[in-house]
Amino acid sequence: MIELDRVSKSFEDDAGGEIPAVADVSLRVGAGETLALIGTSGSGKTTILKMINRLVEPTAGSVRLDGDDVRDSDPVRLRRGVGYVVQRGGLFPHLTVARNVGLLAELEGWARPDVERRVAELLELVNLPPATYADRRPSSLSGGERQRVGVARALVLDPPIVLLDEPFGALDPITRGQLQQEFQDLKRRLGKTVVIVTHDMAEAFALADRTALLDSGRLLQVGSEADFRERPANDFVAGFLTEHFRSAT
Ligand SMILES: Nc1ncnc2c1ncn2[C@@H]1O[C@H](COP(=O)(O)OP(=O)(O)OP(=O)(O)O)[C@@H](O)[C@H]1O
Ligand SMILES: [Mg+2]
Repeated sequence: MIELDRVSKSFEDDAGGEIPAVADVSLRVGAGETLALIGTSGSGKTTILKMINRLVEPTAGSVRLDGDDVRDSDPVRLRRGVGYVVQRGGLFPHLTVARNVGLLAELEGWARPDVERRVAELLELVNLPPATYADRRPSSLSGGERQRVGVARALVLDPPIVLLDEPFGALDPITRGQLQQEFQDLKRRLGKTVVIVTHDMAEAFALADRTALLDSGRLLQVGSEADFRERPANDFVAGFLTEHFRSAT
């Protein structure tokens, strides 16, 4: 479903030098699979997501969705096919919750009653009853509620692929646990292909079928929790796991 084939991305810095953000990464995410991307800050996670929906063009390599190179697909098709939950929410502050969620459907020219019906359905789905939440603005919501609005918005066109950039970051453990549980219910019910970015290895193992560990733009290992625990690819990976679970407890 999603294939990254030897993908690299370098940004130019102000001095004209190169910042290698992603280096020679190959990954496949099967239809209906959830893949977690994990790694320290700056390891290239967001850049990988943005290359999947073409907000960033790779410097080398190719990205294919269902066998088609994203370079050849038009932006409208990508918008319909790939939902995106932006790191830190990215909601429009001047729009109500309902309009934030319905925005892409409006852009697609849906009739108003259809947009309203879809928005109500999605707000129910993410446990934000429309009667209470539809007319509020993002500034009046809690962090967790805002993140749910972001998830609802990404689902409005019912895309087969959903990309989530740290959707549960910066939340207290209880709210986080609750949203993780909701995410798993959603995943079961909707059967989407999902790539989710996280800083948290326990979250990655809990939510994803496979986890991909990045460091400085390089893919160190991709596999299940058992693969990581029983067959770490190298000492760095083994150390990352030990360090991670020591600091998490
Ligand atoms: N538009 C840009 N211009 C220049 N450098 C960039 C740009 N976007 C990202 N980078 C650099 O590329 C590297 C990877 O960034 P990226 O945002 O993918 O990291 P990340 O893994 O998502 O980090 P975080 O966990 O902090 O969100 C970083 O060194 C970053 O500074
Ligand atoms: Mg990021």
